[in-house]
Amino acid sequence: MDSDRLIDGMNEYYARRAPVHDELMSYRSVEQMEKIFAPVIALLEPMIDGRDILEIACGTGNWTQVLAKRGRHVTATDVNRSMLELAREKEYTPTSPKFVESNAYTLDDVEQCCEVAFMADWWAHIPLERLSSFLENLHRKLLPNGIVIVLDMLPRELPEGETEHFDEQGNRIRTRTLPDGSRFQVVKNFPARQELSDLTSCYADEFHYWQFADLKRWLLVYQLR
Ligand SMILES: C[S@@+](CC[C@H](N)C(=O)[O-])C[C@H]1O[C@@H](n2cnc3c(N)ncnc32)[C@H](O)[C@@H]1O
Repeated sequence: MDSDRLIDGMNEYYARRAPVHDELMSYRSVEQMEKIFAPVIALLEPMIDGRDILEIACGTGNWTQVLAKRGRHVTATDVNRSMLELAREKEYTPTSPKFVESNAYTLDDVEQCCEVAFMADWWAHIPLERLSSFLENLHRKLLPNGIVIVLDMLPRELPEGETEHFDEQGNRIRTRTLPDGSRFQVVKNFPARQELSDLTSCYADEFHYWQFADLKRWLLVYQLR
């Protein structure tokens, strides 16, 4: 399957997953997010406090709430209206984020350049052959020396009943079944540290990478040169 069709399929999957997204992720409140992700947030605070932040693939706004408590302003983007509608219903203090319906690969309608880009549980879904163009476009939405923060999942076992294979580009493709029984194919890549370092070395001098085994997450931070 070519990457455009894969990307369209994933958009559709998440559009339909929106009403059950928080339940599937076991996210209930910003206080609970802050408790679960305390070690990640403690590391990130010096980079996000008082900054203008661009969030990619914000989903139902769980991380947006965390960012809005710390940033000067948050522009939260997602391709799916159904996700954004749920995100808009949440409470944000002290700043109100601006929600923009925008595809992560184009970031159309993101007008203002930000100091920091943040994305959670989005990177794994980017087909390998689209990573460089995604990053180059993202960097155009950042101010000079902007910071990019990527939080994503460490390898996870295949859930029961789902299948996986690798496509010609090396993408791990998994089936996903929603509670209504509808089935989709999603890209679910688990990049190694070295892959991330190789990819970002042409944009940044420093590369920072952590793994949080308990949270089953990796975290990447780099600053544009
Ligand atoms: C795993 S969810 C993560 C949502 C949120 N960041 C979180 O941590 O709960 C992936 C998100 O990517 C969004 N998405 C899928 N394809 C996208 C695209 N092409 N551009 C922007 N967002 C996209 C989905 O709508 C969904 O909200």
